[in-house]
Amino acid sequence: MNRLDFLIRRLTAQRACLQLAAELISEIEGPVLEVGLGKGRTYDFLRELFPAREIFAFDRNVGSYPDATPDLDHIILGDFRETLMSAQERIGASAALVHCDFGSENREEDTVLARWLGPAIDRLLGPNGVVAADREMTVSRWTPVSLPSTVDEDAYYLYRAGTGSAP
Ligand SMILES: C[S@@+](CC[C@H](N)C(=O)[O-])C[C@H]1O[C@@H](n2cnc3c(N)ncnc32)[C@H](O)[C@@H]1O
Repeated sequence: MNRLDFLIRRLTAQRACLQLAAELISEIEGPVLEVGLGKGRTYDFLRELFPAREIFAFDRNVGSYPDATPDLDHIILGDFRETLMSAQERIGASAALVHCDFGSENREEDTVLARWLGPAIDRLLGPNGVVAADREMTVSRWTPVSLPSTVDEDAYYLYRAGTGSAP
């Protein structure tokens, strides 16, 4: 697939999955985590979807558009491997939704990171919480959610945690 169509496929899938995730968590309390702030595009969309929720964004550094940058209380900078491990106190409550958008051009590195991220995110996710991700993730208490009909398989991933707490 050419790069333009691939990008359109990815962004279309991302939007549809986040919209579905918003419906899935409508009855669940808790903040939203954006794991991969990047330019802030999906953060900006999440703000629109969840005007009443706190949204915490994680990235190595700030590369987002000024008008799509969280305030200092809601941006957590550094490598995910450090920041996610100490995030619980900062975010204050179990998350209802975690959006993982960390993918790069290097699929092998992404796979290694996804393996680490799954359990780390699981610890921050509340019962019945939802994860939307740009890379496949495997966590035993997460069940894949059927994707919206407009989303190609493997274009994006949606999971729902079980009712129990993370181990
Ligand atoms: C695909 S971009 C995110 C795009 C963003 N959601 C948007 O809509 O603009 C991935 C981001 O993940 C960040 N990232 C990847 N691996 C990371 C790591 N180990 N620690 C911190 N940030 C990381 C990169 O710096 C990059 O900004």
